[in-house]
Amino acid sequence: MDTEFASDRPARAILLLSISYLLLGLLLGVIGGFQYLLPDFLKESFSFQRSRPLHVYLVLSWIFTGAQGGLYYYLPRVAGKKIAWPTGAWMHFYLQLVISVLIMAQLFMGKFGGREYLEFPPIYGVLVLLSWVPLVINFFATLKPRYQEAPVYIWSWSTGLLFFYITYAESYLWLIDYFNGNIVRDTTVQWKALGSMVGSWNMLIYGTAMYIMEKISGNQKPNRSALAFSFYFLGMANLMFNWGHHTYIVPAAPWVKTISYFISMTELFILGNIIWQWKKTIQKAQLHYHLLSYRLLSYADFWIFLNLILAIIISVPAANYYTHGTHITVAHAMGTTMGINTMLLLASIFYIAKIGESSPHKRSEKWAGVLLLIFNIALLFFWIALLGAGFQKISNRANQVVFAEMMNQSAPYFKLFTISGVFIFGALLGVLIIAIRSLAKTKKQISAS
Ligand code: HEM
Repeated sequence: MDTEFASDRPARAILLLSISYLLLGLLLGVIGGFQYLLPDFLKESFSFQRSRPLHVYLVLSWIFTGAQGGLYYYLPRVAGKKIAWPTGAWMHFYLQLVISVLIMAQLFMGKFGGREYLEFPPIYGVLVLLSWVPLVINFFATLKPRYQEAPVYIWSWSTGLLFFYITYAESYLWLIDYFNGNIVRDTTVQWKALGSMVGSWNMLIYGTAMYIMEKISGNQKPNRSALAFSFYFLGMANLMFNWGHHTYIVPAAPWVKTISYFISMTELFILGNIIWQWKKTIQKAQLHYHLLSYRLLSYADFWIFLNLILAIIISVPAANYYTHGTHITVAHAMGTTMGINTMLLLASIFYIAKIGESSPHKRSEKWAGVLLLIFNIALLFFWIALLGAGFQKISNRANQVVFAEMMNQSAPYFKLFTISGVFIFGALLGVLIIAIRSLAKTKKQISAS
């Protein structure tokens, strides 16, 4: 049986915190969806200008915090000893809890002052950076990584942590006049920072996916292979350069656009391939304990495939000219964060909850399987609806259709978007309740043993 470590409790607390971010984020997403359909819905008390930033803040917090909770759980297992600073893990939990409540209160009251994705007043950005310190200390002090021999997930996690700091700090450069006073410089730096920040959370999450794939298959070779490292270095190149496709509208040097176009799609291709190859090596007996994580990784693979096609299309500069600022970009952002990041994080959570290991868990596992199927079907409709709304906008722009008529023509897509959003909410709510109960049960079983 797996040894329990003192840091498993804060790890589970952090995971539960991440799940609550997702639950609240989903609720706000659904409210935002209804505001698409009924523009007057909650207009006075809680308009779309408030629900959107709060939704985005919460779902991004789910992604980062879900990755952090997993790291606290995996760290002592990778190192083969307890973490260097267990109290730090609790400090991390409480700091993050307090800071996120403060940020939510600001956004709820409509007190902005930040930029896209980080719309809360900038002072809170400093606090967010502070809340990560215990994790960084624990990571490096526990593992003391020797990179020559380290498996690829240690490289990925280290890079994710380091670049989170760099990109987060960079996303606040607009506070300095040198950047703020020049629109080209400002837009370029801002999108570079945000694009690379996505790369940093991908590094954390892909590292986690690689680690659990190794644990499920029991095969250590793939994470030390040339393919895995080529994936890592491409991921790194992506992190540094793929932001270029966000700035096609800015008059920057053409070579930047060309490089970023070619680099943009490589990462998804290689990750998709790694999961595909891994699935072929899995035996039936291994699936017995980890069926749910296996299914979640398979769903992620499916979404990698779809989003790769979309990314290839919208990264062509000529196509980007039309798709920029339409719901096609939203489809890309939500398709990747929901289909890939969320599926991989749930795979990690169910792996930690050991859902396949006892019979009450097994029953929940079946339910979670059905709900996840519903989620993925609904997500497909959701994604198609966003693409439809995007194409409609492109056609309306070309035909110079007036705004009211444009909204009329987009209404069927918005309906499909909101209805499938409600199904997504319902299905994920069920999955998350099972995740919460499994995490809590695992804890009880352990304290009873
Ligand atoms: C795992 C769950 C979810 C994740 C990770 C997620 C992620 C995101 C992200 C990253 C954005 C920003 C997109 C951009 O900047 O282009 C966004 C916007 C949005 N999301 Fe979600 N989302 C989730 C669930 C939902 C659900 C269930 C709904 C319900 C309809 C929803 C409705 C919206 C709306 C209305 C927007 C604003 C789009 C706009 O700016 O026009 N989301 N979401």
